[in-house]
Amino acid sequence: MRLERNSPQSASLPDFRRTRRLRGSAAVRGLVRETTIGPDDFIQPLFITHGTGIRREIGSMPGQFQLSVDVLPRELAELAEAGIKAVFLFGIPEEKDRFASGAFDADGVVQRAMRTAKRELPEMLVIGDVCACEYTDHGHCGILNGCEVDNDRTVELLVRIALSQAEAGADVVAPSDMMDGRVVAIRAALDAAGYVNLPIMSYAVKYASAFYGPFREAAASMPAFGDRRSHQMDPANAREALTEIAIDLDEGADIVIVKPAMAYLDVIRMARDAFDAPIVAYNVSGEYAMIKAAAQLGWIDERRVALETLTSIKRAGAGRIITYHAKDAAGWLQDGEYAARRAVDVLSEWEA
Ligand code: PBG
Repeated sequence: MRLERNSPQSASLPDFRRTRRLRGSAAVRGLVRETTIGPDDFIQPLFITHGTGIRREIGSMPGQFQLSVDVLPRELAELAEAGIKAVFLFGIPEEKDRFASGAFDADGVVQRAMRTAKRELPEMLVIGDVCACEYTDHGHCGILNGCEVDNDRTVELLVRIALSQAEAGADVVAPSDMMDGRVVAIRAALDAAGYVNLPIMSYAVKYASAFYGPFREAAASMPAFGDRRSHQMDPANAREALTEIAIDLDEGADIVIVKPAMAYLDVIRMARDAFDAPIVAYNVSGEYAMIKAAAQLGWIDERRVALETLTSIKRAGAGRIITYHAKDAAGWLQDGEYAARRAVDVLSEWEA
């Protein structure tokens, strides 16, 4: 690469390039910014619980709540007000059993939440997490055969969950279990039931990560024994992620998720370079909790660290980000310095 030289201001200095020229003011920085983030980029996860009038803060995820269905419309209205266009629903059922019956119950917490959401705020996109771990009494992601999750019987269960969510009005279904063959099975079942236009957002790349810790408190889905390493990916592998994505796209996935995000930015970038499909990154519970905890101790600036993190995930190649910061970040981006930067971005887009 040939570097253009700029004439130095001082005769005593040699020739050098002044890159600081493009950093001198917020306006100039805005003009040359390569990556921008805004409320449209964020998908807010919500935990739906049984009961009424419940808005219970999750200990390890300050600012995140378990919500009962009756308080959901208010939450959705606040999210819409902040500019958020999509939510991702998880359920905490009243009762758990071996078969995850609550997950495909037409009257289950998530199904009721979906019907309520589509009735009260039809323009909000509702994505359903399709998994069994919040609904099984043993906390595993499917039907057990001894101590192992039985792949094929679990796929049958996932199909039932996806269909029940489709019937409840989900706009997108998102299988998060990492069983083999679930995307093709869900696609076939949705098509047969007439849901040919319902997209599948598959967690194609989901690592066996310690960053899910706080989620398991939030959703009460900690496995009673063992772990998820027989189905979730080994954090040491990146090429394998491309195989997983290729398989899921081949099976009919419309959108793919890479999860977690912060420790896997290289995987997001590899996926972005290798495939044309939409890629969503999941900025998971542990990533959120770390920022919250350090900010509460006064060790970091929550707002700046969160926005820097979200920017880095988008810069790595994610089209959209599932993040617990969604509502706050959308709000921050609407005021102050950030709003000024956005204005410059909008103007430079308009001028282009
Ligand atoms: C499975 C599921 C999990 C998360 C999303 N979907 C938990 C797991 O695999 O143990 C984790 C999300 C997070 O940590 O924010 N239903």
